[in-house]
Amino acid sequence: MDLFSEIEAPEREELRALRKELEEANYKYYVLNMPTLSDREFDEKMHRLQDLEAMFPDMFDPKSPTQHVGSDLGKKGFEQVKHKYPMLSLANSYSREEIEDWVRKLPSGVEIVCELKYDGLSISLWYEHGVLVKALTRGDGQQGDNVIDNIKTIPSIPWKIERNDVPAFFELRGEVLLPWERFEALNKEREEQEEPLFANPRNAASGTLKLQDPREVARRGLDAYLYYMLGENLPGSTHFERLSTAREWGFHISDAIKVCHSVDEVMAYIAYWDTERKNLPVATDGIVLKVNNLAQQEELGYTAKTPRWAIAYKFPAEKQLTLLREITYQVGRTGVVTPVANLEPVQLSGTMVQRATLHNEDFIKSLDIRPGDKVWVEKGGEIIPKIVGRADREETSDPRIPRTPSFPSCCPECGTPLIRVEGEAAWRCPNETGCPPQIKGKIEHFVSRKAMNIDGLGEETIDLFYQKGLLHNIADIYDLKLEDIAVQERLGEKSAQNILDGIEASKQVPWARVLFALGIRMVGETTAKKIARKYNTIDTLMWATAEQLCAIEDVGPQIAENIVKYFEDIRNLEILDRLRKAGLQFEGEAEPEPTSDKLAGMSIVISGTFVHHSRDEYKAMIEANGGKNVGSVSKKTSFILAGDNMGPEKRKKAEDLGIPLKTEEEFLEMMN
Ligand code: IVH
Repeated sequence: MDLFSEIEAPEREELRALRKELEEANYKYYVLNMPTLSDREFDEKMHRLQDLEAMFPDMFDPKSPTQHVGSDLGKKGFEQVKHKYPMLSLANSYSREEIEDWVRKLPSGVEIVCELKYDGLSISLWYEHGVLVKALTRGDGQQGDNVIDNIKTIPSIPWKIERNDVPAFFELRGEVLLPWERFEALNKEREEQEEPLFANPRNAASGTLKLQDPREVARRGLDAYLYYMLGENLPGSTHFERLSTAREWGFHISDAIKVCHSVDEVMAYIAYWDTERKNLPVATDGIVLKVNNLAQQEELGYTAKTPRWAIAYKFPAEKQLTLLREITYQVGRTGVVTPVANLEPVQLSGTMVQRATLHNEDFIKSLDIRPGDKVWVEKGGEIIPKIVGRADREETSDPRIPRTPSFPSCCPECGTPLIRVEGEAAWRCPNETGCPPQIKGKIEHFVSRKAMNIDGLGEETIDLFYQKGLLHNIADIYDLKLEDIAVQERLGEKSAQNILDGIEASKQVPWARVLFALGIRMVGETTAKKIARKYNTIDTLMWATAEQLCAIEDVGPQIAENIVKYFEDIRNLEILDRLRKAGLQFEGEAEPEPTSDKLAGMSIVISGTFVHHSRDEYKAMIEANGGKNVGSVSKKTSFILAGDNMGPEKRKKAEDLGIPLKTEEEFLEMMN
């Protein structure tokens, strides 16, 4: 026996380690929504694993990540449905050479359709006799979650196609996206409410689609682009024709699709869109190339994970190398201390960048980043630019480059020793009531629109009042006097009076919003509302135990502990006492939850006369089911509940805008 056969080749160990790493990366990407590898790293590792598996066929495993696409299954609450056709992924390419390699394997003279690669989540819409009956996520590629109630909140997805020439069954696949504008607004709001930010619109769309509350989904404003039609006896013999037909049927199909006849043409399309995509309202991360002829597509077929008739080309991420001049530390309103890279200014995605986040201490240590280094800065989908890497140092012994600076042990704003909660990466200043950015942050949150909504007290004014010693905590707001504030720079008597009027009006803000305004950590607007429904006075809430609080939907042990701690702190009790004396609402019935979500996010116009119920009854029905009754028809109207003798103007406007009408009977059936 060969002596060496006993010793295992190191590649076998590498193969096992790669499988494990990619399994984990898939889980973090699809289930936790927290990607750990860049697409490129993921692809490189996947290729290496494929090579190793080819080297050791005896190690074949049907469960290997090379044999199936990642999974986003595992959430509660949605019906799981088997796909009629598996939902596959696409092979990636990054260069002209790789595209040429792919084209070489195709029949000569093929037509290639170029499309944008939308960076969201894939969705499969099932239409039976023209009616949307299911909307499935990719899941594990074999079965997905039916998220139809959430999908129905997307205005561009038709619920019903009013034509008699559509096939009995067809499926349209596409991408669900959160447009940039909505993404930025959502993150801004989450920042205000101390909720974790979404890293990019893709994560935000994925988190949104998994919500169990279609009203919240509707509010966030998802959109969808459709890019592939499947089924039996469908019209057309090319992919391009099918998408054009789908467009005629009322589906949202991108105008950026183009039939190309050569690699040169494909490369010109790529070059054009690599720049032009920055003007699109949604995120794209590449181009998809598809064989146009459907018979040829069928002939080419599929591998276990991807079609052979399509390939993705990924745009290079926008990053730049620049000099790290200095690391400074910024204290946020929750006391988290973030290291900030001060950079030699550099142009990135159309803006000049000179500051970028270094995330936390572990990040700096793991990359051994020091002032004087050249670092990679990326903007990607995020609002705040981030450092993503460091260039190799030419001379590590260069005395001008100091050692990695140590993270400060005390708060740079107030000098309090920092603490690091176990399991968290962030250092935090615990001096909630004495640290300037935390004091001002708490006041800014308290007066914000969704909290006490006090007009006139913006960030600058709060800063000014803080500097002048007029504001130290939220209770001080109710002690402000006209003579104190009218004399401040930039403020005359009129604006001072405005502020005081706003403060006076805030005394009527209902209890649920007051609770949100207090700024208890992790108690956002929705959670506050849920708590206020259960505890309709502060006096009962104050005595609630963590266990009792956990019984409330959305309240987990961490939030419960934050609430209990808040009411244990004597300084908070003093503030609450002053606020109560000032006349704030510390009790009251919170608005009840609607009885169903059937009409969540919809704007419905009622017009005409009815037989079964009165107009007011229909209005109440709409509201109890999560919808909104509006007076006039616009492009935002979801449908019109149309009785007899509907006004001719409304009818014309509805026709012009393509707004569907529902009869009384259809509406009642829908409500049943
Ligand atoms: S075609 C059989 N076309 O990219 C594969 N996919 O990385 C059918 N995607 O899972 C997919 N834009 O979610 C296709 N124009 C487009 C696309 C697109 C985005 C997504 C899709 C797919 C993923 C693969």
